[in-house]
Amino acid sequence: MDKFIIKGGIPLKGEVQISGAKNAAVAIIPAAVLSRDVCVLDNVPSISDVEVALEILAYMGAEIKRLGKSKIQIDSSRITDGTVPYDLARSTRGSSYFLGALLGRFGSARVPMPGGCDLGSRPIDQHIKCFEALGAKADIQHGIVDISADRLIGTQIYFDKVTVGGTINALLACVCAEGLTIIENAAKEPHIVDVANFLNSMGADIMGAGTDVIKIKGVRALHGTEYSVIPDQIEAGTFMVAAAATGGDITLKNVIPKHLEPITAKLRKIGVYVEIADDSDNIRVVGRSKYQSVDIKTSPHPGFPTDMQPQMTTLLTMAEGTSMVTESIFDTRFKYVDELRRMGADITVDSRVAVVRGVEHLTGAPVKPSDLRAGAALIIAGLAAQGTTEIEDIYHIERGYEEMEVKLRNLGADIVKRYYPDDDKLRKAL
Ligand code: EPU
Repeated sequence: MDKFIIKGGIPLKGEVQISGAKNAAVAIIPAAVLSRDVCVLDNVPSISDVEVALEILAYMGAEIKRLGKSKIQIDSSRITDGTVPYDLARSTRGSSYFLGALLGRFGSARVPMPGGCDLGSRPIDQHIKCFEALGAKADIQHGIVDISADRLIGTQIYFDKVTVGGTINALLACVCAEGLTIIENAAKEPHIVDVANFLNSMGADIMGAGTDVIKIKGVRALHGTEYSVIPDQIEAGTFMVAAAATGGDITLKNVIPKHLEPITAKLRKIGVYVEIADDSDNIRVVGRSKYQSVDIKTSPHPGFPTDMQPQMTTLLTMAEGTSMVTESIFDTRFKYVDELRRMGADITVDSRVAVVRGVEHLTGAPVKPSDLRAGAALIIAGLAAQGTTEIEDIYHIERGYEEMEVKLRNLGADIVKRYYPDDDKLRKAL
């Protein structure tokens, strides 16, 4: 089993290159199925969730070529069947995008219910509702979602809840439907806009992505394209918080500052210095030794992102005073709090609200993340803590962060990845 071993207390210094956005890439890769031509994607992050999406494509008969570290070519022309294998689908949330993409291309799809981080209940009722509104029939049996339609016909879709996955699946299913589709109460995250831009670069006719009403005029077919994925807003935010937590001074390269505004605003409020030059794709973050408490409530974009909640809560454990953190998107996104308590944090959680009372410092401990962003939070805690932190189950982190430990080492952190074969033996024996 792999672990990260971190010796904390070193301020991060230097420059870090931010990779392509996970949540855009895991949607754009399935979206490539909609074209029978070749698609070339650049700025694709090397993370395990992307590997799973590519494996699913390859299983279905697509030809994938690596043109460089972050550049891939996808030829989906030979895919004839819309069935996704169970084990691959179960390991990520992004596998649900094969529903919309395969339905859009073949008029049918068989995709196991998706997996992904365990953050509480994650239904797909809104996805199904939009497929049905477009004229498809859906059936869930033995863990598999089976959808089919004789014709997909443009319609009005109103989401009862703002949903990133539902909005993307609606786009994928309706780009080639007959006539006009209007999606209301759509999600507005940067990766929604990126998926729409990708589809438009293939010949789709989508207007309004990034607002809560998106209009799509169906087109007959989509052609191939070359497209570069946007930088990862959450990876950037994670490095910003890591710099703040260690009292460091780092410059993030390849970011879109606009996407980071909700994070930048909260960091500035607690006392972090954030410098953004006009028309620049760099951000400089300078930490301090003391911060003030702040209240945070997660909400859909442009609100404070739920995917930054664990990292920001970790920083607040070291701020003066009491902060209230309210999680309004997912039922159980405070599981990492028990691990932070091992490190000396003073946090109480009541349902979706965490009360964080600042402590002087955290201390290193053996800890275990329950999901991807919990893992990011524990890395930040380990970097800031006095002493050594051992983080187990780092496969959670590798799902969404490209070479995290290498990037941190380049910023001066003392972090190594170690393989412990004895842990594997022990697990088998239990
Ligand atoms: N929801 C429903 N019904 C649905 C769909 C969603 O009730 O049909 C609920 C969910 O249970 C949740 C809320 O609506 O309470 C929002 O869920 P959403 O659909 O927006 O989330 P998602 O598409 O499952 C994506 C990201 C998550 C990120 C959320 C929110 C991907 C692959 N995943 O999930 O990313 O937290 O949007 O921004 O894009 C992560 O990267 O760590 C991560 C968990």
